[in-house]
Amino acid sequence: MTAPVVVEQVGAAATHPLRAALLRQGRPVEIAGDDDPATLHLAARLPSGEVVGVLRLHPQACAWRTAERPWQLRAMATDPAVRGTGAGRALVTDALARLTAAGADLVWCDARAAAVGFYERLGFVVVTDVFDVPLVGPHHGMVVGLPVS
Ligand SMILES: CC(C)(COP(=O)(O)OP(=O)(O)OC[C@H]1O[C@@H](n2cnc3c(N)ncnc32)[C@H](O)[C@@H]1OP(=O)(O)O)[C@@H](O)C(=O)NCCC(=O)NCCS
Repeated sequence: MTAPVVVEQVGAAATHPLRAALLRQGRPVEIAGDDDPATLHLAARLPSGEVVGVLRLHPQACAWRTAERPWQLRAMATDPAVRGTGAGRALVTDALARLTAAGADLVWCDARAAAVGFYERLGFVVVTDVFDVPLVGPHHGMVVGLPVS
């Protein structure tokens, strides 16, 4: 089954319910920089309008690779009801296209160990050993370079 999602830019608040339910247990739902004008929040919606996937993008230096215009991808999650149907791919593909158009040259993320394979399918590569994020668990640093015109 393929989820017929549409990806669109939204305000931070539209991403908070899914973020709270799936990513932020025990921690504030808001992340520093959510309201920064440069920050992009994307949502994947079903035809019903229901938000079934979210992510956030913001300009941020990468600790592992030198880049002129690096962006961080974070707060990525899809509703368990649609997992494996392409919603996550649709979100990341849209995100990378937007950032390429905006002139970004690198996107990086702290990837949960369980999500490394997902990001690899979207072109990211692991660039760190495993490290622990308190309250969340093991992660790897991952990056993907973007074509610069
Ligand atoms: C990781 C996550 C975002 C994937 O979302 P999804 O909607 O299931 O992703 P898709 O259905 O678009 O999958 C895209 C591809 O990645 C693969 N994939 C999905 N999750 C995967 C995983 N955890 N490990 C390896 N491959 C995975 C799919 O099989 C698919 O492969 P294909 O296109 O070759 O068939 C989702 O499982 C999730 O929200 N997990 C919990 C929160 C989380 O870990 N977020 C990431 C924080 S760093």
